[in-house]
Amino acid sequence: MKFDETYDRACKDPEGFWAEAAENVHWYRKWDRVLDNSDAPFYRWFTGGQTNVCYNAVDIHVANGRGDQTAIIHESPVTNSQQTLTYRELRQRVSRFAGMLKANGVGYGDRVIVYMPMIPEAVISMLACARIGAVHSVVFGGFAANELAVRIDDCQPKMIVASSCGIEPGRVVEYKPLLDSAIEMAAHKPDACIIFQRSQAEASMIDGRDIDWVDAISQVDDVDCVPVLATDPLYILYTSGTTGQPKGVVRDTGGGIVALKWTMKNIYDMNPGEVYWAASDVGWVVGHSYIVYAPLFNGNTTIVFEGKPVGTPDPGVFWRIVSDYRVKVLFTAPTAFRAIKREDPNGEYVGKYDMSSLRYLFLAGERTDPDTLIWARQQLNVPVIDHWWQTETGSAICSNCVGIEQLPIKDGSPTRPVPGWQLRAVDDDGHPVETGEIGALVARLPLPPGTFPTLWNAKERFFESYLGHFPDHYESGDAGYIDEDGYVFVMSRTDDVINVAGHRLSTGAIEEVLASHPDVAECAVLGVNDALKGELPLGCLVLNSGVERDVSEIISETVQLVRSNIGPVAAFKLAVVVDRLPKTRSGKILRATMKKIADNTPWRMPATIDDPAILDEITAAFASIGYPKS
Ligand code: COA
Ligand code: AMP
Repeated sequence: MKFDETYDRACKDPEGFWAEAAENVHWYRKWDRVLDNSDAPFYRWFTGGQTNVCYNAVDIHVANGRGDQTAIIHESPVTNSQQTLTYRELRQRVSRFAGMLKANGVGYGDRVIVYMPMIPEAVISMLACARIGAVHSVVFGGFAANELAVRIDDCQPKMIVASSCGIEPGRVVEYKPLLDSAIEMAAHKPDACIIFQRSQAEASMIDGRDIDWVDAISQVDDVDCVPVLATDPLYILYTSGTTGQPKGVVRDTGGGIVALKWTMKNIYDMNPGEVYWAASDVGWVVGHSYIVYAPLFNGNTTIVFEGKPVGTPDPGVFWRIVSDYRVKVLFTAPTAFRAIKREDPNGEYVGKYDMSSLRYLFLAGERTDPDTLIWARQQLNVPVIDHWWQTETGSAICSNCVGIEQLPIKDGSPTRPVPGWQLRAVDDDGHPVETGEIGALVARLPLPPGTFPTLWNAKERFFESYLGHFPDHYESGDAGYIDEDGYVFVMSRTDDVINVAGHRLSTGAIEEVLASHPDVAECAVLGVNDALKGELPLGCLVLNSGVERDVSEIISETVQLVRSNIGPVAAFKLAVVVDRLPKTRSGKILRATMKKIADNTPWRMPATIDDPAILDEITAAFASIGYPKS
């Protein structure tokens, strides 16, 4: 079936469309209703159905004769090691670890935090939770203890599974001290911590609370998958909102399986048995969906990559892995390609490897700038597909669905809405804007299966943040335009979220940390353009009157403060001290104007500005740290 026909069917008969897709999934009990609208605008998919994520990801393939196929390849240039697990071995390790969870009192509905680097044990922990109906919440290793503590208090885990360390190029990141201090800070205390010891840094254990992974699984029985409701949560994944309190995005079980399995063939054109590689991290949504769940649901081989696009050891590592394992689809963030292009502009490393297995490169996490896209296409000689999605949606909102029909590529656009998505660009009152004009991108409810049904323990926040502004529509938080062919161009956020190396960060959260410095009276954080990471946070600090300390000392303290409160992943290294911040007469800080000054994009004096002279001071302050970049 061609794209237009498929898209129209999903719009006209969503229940028929998704019920058909659900036939491709194993159910212990079929659903009572495909789409339950009894509590609209809070919709649920496949209510009454019973299934299990782990069964659909692992056991089903052993049952169907794929037991000896490689399920997971761990490629770790930072430890100079490789490891593979077949589906049969994966089932054995997951059912044993699930047995350990059960033996330690973790059961259906309990939460488990997973704080792990890119090792197979991270995937095993996630699948083991799903096996017994526990809800996992993976926390990215680049966050500081405080961020982990906030997540512990919000989801109240019965257990935390962690590794002794992660490995960043040139340094070992010890996770255990971060874990200990997070638990110390949190009001909620887990019953137990399971620690996977790595030889690069052995963690010291706390008696009565910490259990060594190897000991923990040594005397327990394997357990089988338990049927759970389609509407039960599979996981909670925290993402940045506009404040310091992250949002706990919930993914449900049935919709999650149906949608992700459908995308593997229809978006990525993957057939069972082929090798798929999402070069991301299990701490992000891309990792949940496309390192772990979707490729396994589809019977593919997935690669767990512990390294960086450059420096581990060189900008050819991606091509080596594609060539060694015959990867068909590579999925990563544009920033990874910018990093490779910077070190190997002429693509000399690409030429060293057999890239003949690669059919498509998919990019997401931030807008792919046409320069990067064209460079990647020239080097790899395959279609480069930008696709747009969010933690909330779990898979792409817009993509070229090459498994259905490859549409012409327009550089700078993630193509058209995926079947199941009805998208508009609207003005502030919710009226559609003209074709080609920028508006808020909103999607008509109900959203397709696999999208988030709510925020963890925060239904009201869910409604207010996403559904309250435009009736019957989901507010994506992104702005963009739709052209005459229905192609969507996603241009910017409508809120205070910035995108640093494909990672979503809240400027509000960074401001909260900066404001806690004793010498800072007021501050504003903007995302300024960066040639490598897309955006970088830049802080403007107003100091308390009477502070006479060395300004550079204060700045380096604030840099350290963000690093220890949010984490190195915030990449907060740029700050200036100013006398005042530009504001409207009603007191709103003019962050957008400041960003334009720092980026050297055209700007107009805001009509509502309180004192235009402040902008000259801001311009001078930015110039003192080399902004705008020439
Ligand atoms: N654990 C601990 N620290 C981590 C970490 C982790 N899992 N991941 C990153 N960090 C640290 C880094 O060491 C770095 O610390 P530093 O300030 O001491 O150097 C900081 O967080 C910023 O990391 P990163 O954003 O990775 O920047 P980088 O300069 O080290 O590398 C790129 C730049 C472009 C190579 C890198 O960002 C990259 O590979 N991006 C791919 C993006 C991606 O996969 N996004 C996922 C969404 S699809
Ligand atoms: P996250 O929830 O961390 O995946 O970040 C989602 C946000 O990243 C989106 O709301 C966008 O702002 C941005 N984003 C992701 N993919 C794209 C893309 N292909 N084009 C433009 N922006 C993107």
